[in-house]
Amino acid sequence: MKKVLTYGTYDLLHYGHFRLLKRAKELGDHLTVAISTDEFNLIKGKKCVQPYGHRAEIIKAIRYVDEVIPENSWEQKINDIREHNINVFVMGCDWKGKFDYLEQYRKVLYLDRTDDISTTTLKNHLKSIQNIQKDINQ
Ligand code: CTP
Repeated sequence: MKKVLTYGTYDLLHYGHFRLLKRAKELGDHLTVAISTDEFNLIKGKKCVQPYGHRAEIIKAIRYVDEVIPENSWEQKINDIREHNINVFVMGCDWKGKFDYLEQYRKVLYLDRTDDISTTTLKNHLKSIQNIQKDINQ
């Protein structure tokens, strides 16, 4: 069985996320998704709308996903690859080159991102909608 591993925050799930997960699954037979915990997000300087437990439950329900594990640190990747018998390590191309050092353990691939969508875009969009709503209510 060919096993694939990817990492991400996956807050405010959007079609860019679905597409990435679909293509990741197509690279093998089994897809593990490591999701950043709230504590790890603090280290990365990120604050999520949805807590880890909710994000993990949603991602686990996606049909391309076979397993969800927590991402607690930058350093855990080599250990995860070994522990889960991973054959392919895959990330979106926003991380291009950053994980090439893992090539000595497993195949490393970077997939193109979907254009014009991200969690940050959605958060900004929500802020603008809120402002418009405030103006309407005044
Ligand atoms: N991703 C993608 N296409 C997008 C957005 C994300 O392929 N338009 C991929 C990322 O490259 C990553 C995975 O989805 O492999 C999870 O990304 P994440 O950082 O959680 O999502 P973003 O929308 O990029 O979040 P943010 O705006 O907070 O950086």
